[in-house]
Amino acid sequence: MKRVLILDFGGQYNLLIARRVRECGVYCEIKSFRISPEEIRAFAPDALIFTGGPATVFDEGAPMVDPALFSMGIPVLGICYGMQLMTHLLGGQCRRAVTREYGKTELHHTGTSRLFAGVPETAVYWMSHGVEVEKLAPDFCITASSQGCRHAAIECEGRRLYGVQFHPEVMHTEYGTQILENFLYGICGFSREWTMSSYVDTAIAECREKIGDKRVLLALSGGVDSAVAAALLQKAVGSQLTCIFVDHGLLRLNEGDDVERVMKDEFHVDIRRINAQDRFLDKLAGVTEPESKRKIIGEEFIRVFETEAKKIGKVHFLAQGTIYPDVVESGLGGESTVIKSHHNVGGLPEHVDFEEIIEPLRRLFKDEVRQLGLELGLPESLVWRQPFPGPGLAIRIIGEVTRSKLDILRQADAIFREEMALAGLDRTANQYFAALTNMRSVGVMGDERTYDYAVALRSVQTQDFMTATWSRLPWELLDKVSGRIVGEVPHVNRVLYDVTSKPPATVEWE
Ligand code: XMP
Repeated sequence: MKRVLILDFGGQYNLLIARRVRECGVYCEIKSFRISPEEIRAFAPDALIFTGGPATVFDEGAPMVDPALFSMGIPVLGICYGMQLMTHLLGGQCRRAVTREYGKTELHHTGTSRLFAGVPETAVYWMSHGVEVEKLAPDFCITASSQGCRHAAIECEGRRLYGVQFHPEVMHTEYGTQILENFLYGICGFSREWTMSSYVDTAIAECREKIGDKRVLLALSGGVDSAVAAALLQKAVGSQLTCIFVDHGLLRLNEGDDVERVMKDEFHVDIRRINAQDRFLDKLAGVTEPESKRKIIGEEFIRVFETEAKKIGKVHFLAQGTIYPDVVESGLGGESTVIKSHHNVGGLPEHVDFEEIIEPLRRLFKDEVRQLGLELGLPESLVWRQPFPGPGLAIRIIGEVTRSKLDILRQADAIFREEMALAGLDRTANQYFAALTNMRSVGVMGDERTYDYAVALRSVQTQDFMTATWSRLPWELLDKVSGRIVGEVPHVNRVLYDVTSKPPATVEWE
């Protein structure tokens, strides 16, 4: 299978480049520009992409690569900093831009480059740069310009070296996907080889080879990643896998039972479900502060998991549902070092007897994990589950968590989810749920005055959950959900819709 190596110079869109390449059905990995020429040779890339980055190429200490990379005979696409670096190393010159360009910019291409095949001569591109190419390297020519940037795209077709000042990976670049496809299919000659249906057998074989006849332990959470990891490991090593499912009692309606049923009945996984609701609720009694709730749940989770793991005895592997963005964001994959702001409940248990960690999904993006789940035969309802925080409903109940509040919230949330699905919006909104405010207000039902809780509905549109906007849900839908919740869920007499974006609000209410 053909593979692209993306050399990371620390730009903010680098993970996005990898996602776009994979979406074109071409396998790629991101690695720091610091990796050695031997490591690059060992990876045996069929093409290189240099990412953008915050550095200035002519400053001292700017990230460099071995110029021999341009003579490997494979196509190279340099994006932003990557293009400036290519120019700098091959004998051209860069300078501080006379006009700094930021945002949507109109570009005209010359109609001569294979990179722009099928792209209208004038279109909108995403620019973000303060440095520009001043003098081309020998044998390069200009293939696109904007008003403020003469060298918006350059190339040396004979050596298959291409540079673009804009960001084809960003969706604001109108023909970004077309340009990446032109590079991957037209110039590199690749085809759509990387699909989950072709990867599933490889994934199973790799797990088998790594695990051999040893035992594996996995913590199931009810989320997509751990479920797909479990299904994959089950297909690979069957009875050598044991899953522990700690049900902390903070899951949504029927969620625990659903996960258990699919894993046990359909996949025949050796799953040990621990119903620990009482333990968690006892610990949470009287606790109102959000971070304390998180901490208590996280610690208790590990304690329960460890106790159960002890009963199983020594295992060789502890499996984790780590996915590719986690790998890259934790600084292991590339150059970007975004520290993850949220850790899933669990972390790494210290007192579990294991020798090695196995992360069967560490090369996959979330959408690939979902596709793999479907290939493995997991039901759509599980595979398309929206993200759910480790501390569960505890951080959607403002104030103290009690059994009765959990009951109210579960019912309200189930109604909201059901109606979202009926309206066909369950995959359009990225996360949606009900939260139970700690506020009670006056209402009237029949002839009676009520004094009951207000439920808040939240639905957001987001790509990365770092920022989000509230979903513009149809009034009719909100009306229906509100009517059903107040009518069907005891102790709720008011429904609110959260119209705050993130920032300044967060997605969760706590
Ligand atoms: P916020 O509320 O920070 O949420 O805007 C962003 C995303 O992170 C999820 N989230 C969590 N996930 N443990 C988790 O595993 C947590 O403590 C936690 N807090 C928030 C949230 O559901 C959303 O998807």
